[in-house]
This record gives sequence, C-alpha cells and structure tokens, in this order.
Amino acid sequence: MAGPEYLDVQALPDPVPQAAAPWGAGPVEAVAPAAETVVPEVVPEQAVPEAVAPEQVVPEAIAPEAVLPEAVVPDVAAPEAAVADEIAPQEMVPEAALPEAVLPVAESAPVEPVEPAAAAQAAVDRLTAQTEVAEAAGVAIEEAPQAPLAAEIPEPEISEPEVAEPVLEAVPDAAPGHEAEAAIEEALVEVAEVPAEEAPDAVAAPVGEAPQAVQPEVLLAPVQEVMETPVPEAAPAPEPEAPGPAEEFLLPEHEDTPVAAPQPPVFEPPAAVEAHEAPSGPQLQVPGEAPAPAEPLPSGLPPEPHPEQPLGQFVAVDGQVPTTPHLAPTPPQPLILPDLDTVAPQSPVTEAPEPDLVQHAEDLATTDADQDEDPEPALPPAPAAPAYNDAEREAVLKVIRERRDIRNGFRSDPIPHDVLLRVLEAAHTAPSVGHSQPWDFVVIRSADTRRAMHDLAMSQREAYAKSLPKGRAKQFKEMKIEAILDTPVNIVVTADPTRGGRHTLGRHTQPQMAPYSSALAVENLWLAARAEGLGVGWVSFFDEREMVRALGLPEHLEVVAYLCVGYVDEFPDEPELMQAGWSKRRPLSWVVHEETYGRRALPGEDPHDLLAETVAQIRPLDAKALGEAWERQKRMTKPAGALGMLEIISAQLSGLSRQCPPPIPEPAAVAVFAGDHGVHAQGVTPWPQEVTGQMVANFLGGGAVCNAFANQVGAEVCVVDVGVVADLPATPGLLPRKIRGGTSDMTTGPAMSREEARAAIEVGIETARDLVAAGNKALLTGEMGIANTTSSAALISVFTGADPAEVTGRGTGINDETLARKTEVVRRALELHQPDPADPIGVLAALGGFEHAAMVGLLLGGASLRTPVILDGVSAGAAALVARAIAPEVLAACIAGHRSAEPGHVAALNKLGLRPLVDLDLRLGEGTGALLALPLVQSTARAMHEVATFDSAGVTEK
Ligand SMILES: Cc1cc2nc3c(=O)[nH]c(=O)nc-3n(C[C@H](O)[C@H](O)[C@H](O)COP(=O)(O)O)c2cc1C
Repeated sequence: MAGPEYLDVQALPDPVPQAAAPWGAGPVEAVAPAAETVVPEVVPEQAVPEAVAPEQVVPEAIAPEAVLPEAVVPDVAAPEAAVADEIAPQEMVPEAALPEAVLPVAESAPVEPVEPAAAAQAAVDRLTAQTEVAEAAGVAIEEAPQAPLAAEIPEPEISEPEVAEPVLEAVPDAAPGHEAEAAIEEALVEVAEVPAEEAPDAVAAPVGEAPQAVQPEVLLAPVQEVMETPVPEAAPAPEPEAPGPAEEFLLPEHEDTPVAAPQPPVFEPPAAVEAHEAPSGPQLQVPGEAPAPAEPLPSGLPPEPHPEQPLGQFVAVDGQVPTTPHLAPTPPQPLILPDLDTVAPQSPVTEAPEPDLVQHAEDLATTDADQDEDPEPALPPAPAAPAYNDAEREAVLKVIRERRDIRNGFRSDPIPHDVLLRVLEAAHTAPSVGHSQPWDFVVIRSADTRRAMHDLAMSQREAYAKSLPKGRAKQFKEMKIEAILDTPVNIVVTADPTRGGRHTLGRHTQPQMAPYSSALAVENLWLAARAEGLGVGWVSFFDEREMVRALGLPEHLEVVAYLCVGYVDEFPDEPELMQAGWSKRRPLSWVVHEETYGRRALPGEDPHDLLAETVAQIRPLDAKALGEAWERQKRMTKPAGALGMLEIISAQLSGLSRQCPPPIPEPAAVAVFAGDHGVHAQGVTPWPQEVTGQMVANFLGGGAVCNAFANQVGAEVCVVDVGVVADLPATPGLLPRKIRGGTSDMTTGPAMSREEARAAIEVGIETARDLVAAGNKALLTGEMGIANTTSSAALISVFTGADPAEVTGRGTGINDETLARKTEVVRRALELHQPDPADPIGVLAALGGFEHAAMVGLLLGGASLRTPVILDGVSAGAAALVARAIAPEVLAACIAGHRSAEPGHVAALNKLGLRPLVDLDLRLGEGTGALLALPLVQSTARAMHEVATFDSAGVTEK
C-alpha cells in the first residue's frame, strides 16, 4: 500500500528536476531529433559480424536509431507511487519527510499559500528578481546556452503542466545562527539516528510563483519537487545535536558523547536504560516481513514492556556496551535489566595497582595444567571480574579515541629514555599468536639512516602518485605522508615468522598471524605514546625487502611498520586524511552484523534492512542552500542565467550538499556494473555472451573506451561483477559481487528472484557507500552486459507506458530483422509478466538485469549520502526509473550525463524530467557518456567557488 504522497504523485504531472522543460518534450511532430540530422552515415548492418572474436569486441559504429519524439511523449498512468510490496513507503520513509517535497504542482494550479516559510518565500522572490534583472539588462535568458537539441525543439510554454512549481518542504532547522550547522548535522547524522520527526507533519508547503517571463529551464529550480525549505526560525529543531565537520557524513557514536559524560551506575536497574534526548529512528519495517513475535530475549529475560521506556526511541545504553557509551535504538521490547539480587554486584572500586611494566624472570614460570583443580560445583557463580570504574574506563576510551596518526606539527624535542621505555613496554605486552611475541623494535635516531629511509619512501610515493587517477593525484600531491626527517626517533617494528618454533599455537593454519601480532604491538605502542603526549606516524611507502637490506636487518624478518615518533604541537580531532577530504569515517552501524553477514544491527537493535534504511535516508534538496546558490549566481560577474543549464546543476549541487558553494565533485568514480542476461538466448544481439566477461577484463586492463575517458577526466574506474556468466579472476580494481552468473530468460520466467534483485540493489548501495567513504564526491553509473538494452527497453516500457516498439533500439547495432525480433521479445516478456509499475522490485526481478539492479542501488545509495550521481545511457535511465519508483526523491541526486542514441533513453529521461548535458549519439554504455559530462558538472561547481562577484571585482551591475 502506498502512502498518500505517492498517490498524489500519481495524479500529478511528472516532476522536472534537472530542467523545467522536459528535454525533447516539445510537440511530437515539431522537430526531428538532432540524432537524425547529424548521423553521418549508416553502416550497413551486415558490417557487424554475427559472431565476434574476443579481440574484436569493440562494436562498430552503427548509425544510431532515429529518436522519435512521439515515442517518448506519452505520460502513462504508470503509478510513480510504485513501491515494491516489500517496501511500504509510508513505513520505510519517515512519514513527514516526503509528501510536500515530492509533489510537483502544476503552475496553473491554484495554490493556497500554506504559511510559506520565510526563506522559501525569499527564494521565490529571488527567482523573480533574477528574472527582472535579466530582463532589464536585456541579457535575455534565452541567450543561455541550450543543449543542442533543446535549441531545436520549441520550448514548452511555462504553463505546461510538466513544469513543476517549487514545492518546498519545510524541514526542521536550527535556531538562527545554527542553521548551517544544523543542516550539516542533519546530513551527517548517522543512519540509525535519523529521527522520524525530522520533517514535522505540520510543515508548511509553500508553493512559490514561478517567474513569469523566464524560460523555465533556466531559472526554475532544478529539482523543485524535491526541494526542502528552511522552517520559520521559531520552529523547534527536533534533531539531536550531532556536531561534526562537514566532510564527515556520519558521526561515530563515541565522538558524539561528551568525553566526561557520567554514566549511570552499571547495574542500577531500571535507570540504566533511560530515554535519551535522541528521537526515535525511522521505522524500517518492510511489509511482508512482519515483526517477529515477542520472544524471550536471548538473555532469557521476559520481553515485557517497561512502562517508562518508550519503544523505538534511542536510549543511552549502559552496562555491557562493548566500547563506548552510545545511542542505540531500543530493542523491540524494552530491555529489563536483571535486578540487583541476581546479578553479580559491581565490585567496589579499588585502587588500581601500580602498573608493573617491567618483565620479571618469574614471568617465565608456568603452572602445570594438572595443578588446576575444578572449583566446587553447584555454588552460585562467583562475581565476574570487576570492570574499571568510570574514570578509569573513560581514560582508556579517551586514549583510544584521541590516538592519531601524525605527520604534521612534530617538534624536535628529544624523547626521554623513561618515556620511550614505557612506550616500548606497552608494545611488548601486546597479544601474540601462540604467545610467540614475534616483534622486534629497531630504534633509529641517526639522521643519516633517517635520510636514507626518507629517500626510499619518496621514490615509492612517486610510484603511487603515478598510479592514481588525476582527480586523486591532485589531492595526494598536497598531502604529507611521512615525517621521517621531522621526528627525533623512528622505530621499525618487525615480525619474525619463525619465532616460537615450528609448532607455534595458532600459526599452523594462519601464518599471517605472526605479522598481525606485531601490528597489535604497534597499536599498543601508538596508544601508550598518545598517553605520553607523543605523536606517531606510520609510514608504509616502502619496498620491504629494500628496507631490510638498507637497514641490515636479518633477511628472515618481515617489516611490519615504520613509525615516526616525537612530540607534537597538537593532536587533531579527526584523522588527517579525513580533514584533507581524502576519506570519510564509516559509521559503526555499517559494519556490525548480527549472526550472519548482512544482518546489520548494533547491539540491542533489530537488524535493519539495507534498502529500507537507505531509502529512509534520502532527503530532498535543501531549500536554504538552493536559495543561496541562486543568490550567488545572481551576484557572480556574468549576466544572470548566462550559464544556462549549468546554473541549474550548480544549484542542485548546493541543495544536495546543503552547502553553497557546493563541494567540487572531485574525485569521482565510475562504477561499471557487469552482468549477463538470459534473454540473450532469444537472439536479440549478434554479440556472443562471453563478450561481457572479456570486456570486463578489458576494463580492468585499462583498454576500454571508459578507461580512456576516465583517464582524461581524472576519474577512477571501479568494475563490479554483479552477474557475469564467466568466472572472473581476482584482479585489482574488480569487486567480485556476483549474485548469479547471468539472469534467467525473461521470456520464459522472471529474470531473477526478488531476493536476487534486492541483493543486487544492495551491491549497488554498498558500492556507493564504499566509493563515497573512500572520498569520492561524485558517482557515475556505468554498465556492461551483452543484451542489456533488451532488458532496459522492457523496464522503460513498463515505467513510461510506451509501446515496446517505441523504446526498443538497435543496441550495439542490430539489423532490422533482429530489431523486430528484439521488440517482439520485449513484448512477449511484458505479456508474460504483466509487470506492475507499482511494484518496482517485482518489475526489476521480472525484466531487469543484475547490473540494472545494482545501478538502482548506486543511485539510492548516492542520494542517501547526498552525493551526486551522473547517469550514463539507456540502462542507467531504466535503473533511474526503478529507483524513482522506489524513492522519488532519489532524483535530487541525479544528473543526466548524456542522451543515448537508444530511443528508450529519451523516453526514460522525459519521464524522469532530466535533461542530458551531452548529446553526441553515443550508444556504448560503460559510463562513457557520464564521464564526458563530469567536467561540466565539476566546472559549474568550481565557478561557484572561483568566479568573482560584482562587489568583489568592482564590476558595475547593470
Ligand atoms: C597499516 C597502516 C599503514 C599506514 N601507512 C601510512 C602511511 O604510509 N602514510 C601515512 O600518512 N599514514 C599512514 N597510516 C595512517 C593512516 O592514514 C591513519 O591511521 C588513518 O588515516 C586514520 O587516522 P588516525 O590514525 O589518525 O585515526 C597508516 C596506518 C596503518 C594502520
């Protein structure tokens, strides 16, 4: 069942996120698309070999199929409301978060002003003002560059129903002065902590007037139907405080917790579990997956509700929290702690014994096993070993939290011997496999030796820099990665894999445990150093054997770490790599699984569904940042609107990031999802299926077009095997995430099961998470899968309502006969499955490919992380239709990179309301069109940073 917001959407025209005028949606007969007029020559279909040798896999240039506007105009009754029966939107998305945001309102519709938020009104005013300025200056907005084809197609009148008015969703905002911070906080808040109340029901949904005499595609907000607006200042901010730097999108719980926050006594029930200020998390219940009936808790405690404990709220968890105090949602049933009588009382806090760090000869003494006697049976269990008291525990957690890898700000002060001795003692007490203690510590002070080590590291640094995509290399150039010459002491930590003899316990099956043990010694050293006020920087830019020789170490040793140690000016709060924008911290909730991998749950939490959780995180564009972007563009030294479509993109980037100017989307990565298709058996393409795997190898070897384009624009190519038939050998750059080796033939049954479809979506979500956490600021879709345009056509037909004949294209360049067969195949599949667009996952399972599903996940994942996703061609368009049916606000993150020569792509873009940035008759896939669009997107953000304003440049405004 869909929530009202979806039903409303169904009844309304399509949103037009990227441009007010749906691309190519002019009168059907008006203009032949550019593709038709610019095709230089038609390569006879006979030129395409029916069977192609692997080396010849690069498709020949074939004349693109004519793109018929007629084919794309119909706006079907396909309910956008569609959400898989597994995902009830009203349950997975916080109730208040969507409705106002996603309703495109036709301009002509009478609009009741509903307490317009001041900022929203201001944004609308600005738009109007911008119009006036442009008009008065004679700087016709019409001068704004148009996409090639758009220039040929009569622009729709502004009163066309497709033109969405800005419909602003009021979102909670912070008190004056904290707005920006609050906005960032909201973006940063941890997945599990998104409060259901984030967008109050009582939100005003002001609908602004569009500027009358302005070309809509220039001045209207790009994603108006997914725009948030700030709330009136008086509105309370229901969000929990979650301070943090903008670059960190999710905050680790322990860092939210004041260091010295007193904790309730460990075993003081029931106060030990008390409602915390944080509001409840989103309800992620998926229909069909009914909540488990109340069962006794694993502890055997009864699952009775506690009268004072609100269910589903975040509470301060105390007691057996393994690491730090943190916020976690209550379990389905409140946790009733055992009463004091049945629990071992906490031992009185005793004076901590003086640490005895120096080892003694007695340490070598052992006790015979047979000297141990069984304790008397049947007595009540002895009290558990005492925990540390609050202050002690806090000291431990503090040193763990405040340990940093340091490269900058070292001082030359010498390290006293007793200090260094304590640090080395700490290292030496590390756990080790079979108690083999495989480490040695070589303390280096000599300037000459350090110089030699520095030189070795520098040459490796260079080699690494050369291996980076340009977008990354630029960033890396600025970074310091070692402080060998800046520190008075360097320590080499080695591992001796032979130590402890042949029968070292635990090393028999896992020889790597020896260096692991030495790594633990490093961590001990690091922590102890922090407690002494000493900074440590780990350098791993060494060819290990080279270093062994240079230092004259015994050849049988492995080098585990090279550490630079010294006093420092300060310890940064966050990892230096994070501060440099190189990486982001992954939240704990991403990495804790309950019982089986994939059942992510923090202790005390129910496992959460990755898809539902991701959807719940997707929010509209931020109206405040959007308004600031318009304002800034107006003040930049250029005529208002002169950057045309790019102004819209930069405003979208601002609204998405909640920052103005928005971060420049660099570095960027294209995720190329590869999968095979059972429908290949129907003869829909002359290309043999094995080409998919061969092209994957080509991508990994750097020999494909996408590699060349990625090199040119400085992007990373990340190849994901999500369903290739061939077994692909492990290769750097390949993510092995195969759900199954190819889908089933959609003309005889569903291409995949619903579970497989969801699993492939999750692959996409996780890919987005990985790439964003690794520091990418833009994601691009890419795909490879012989026969996947057949699948794309079927998906597009379902979601646009277009006839298969209108959306089925020549793909890699098929002849008329094959095209007729392919169209029939699409038609048969649709007849067989009778897909219901209200059930997007069902549609995906019936007709999609694994790569389509993974792209759906990438889009949702990117949107949930407020990261722009540049769409490639027809398969990405098909995936975007599915993603939009699952979560309409996903469009806030979507930018159409290019327009493919496939007719179905135009239909998809029109349905999505996206206007492509590049229109060059490409029909290759692989992410090529998206890659070409990347510099445009980056340029527009850069302009926001670098272009002077009339004020700052002293340029007179008209
Ligand atoms: C095994 C290992 C190798 C590392 N190598 C380097 C290195 O070569 N250069 C560098 O600048 N940092 C290096 N680091 C430090 C990491 O970049 C750092 O731990 C990470 O960014 C997190 O920051 P934090 O340690 O301050 O929490 C290394 C860390 C580890 C654990």
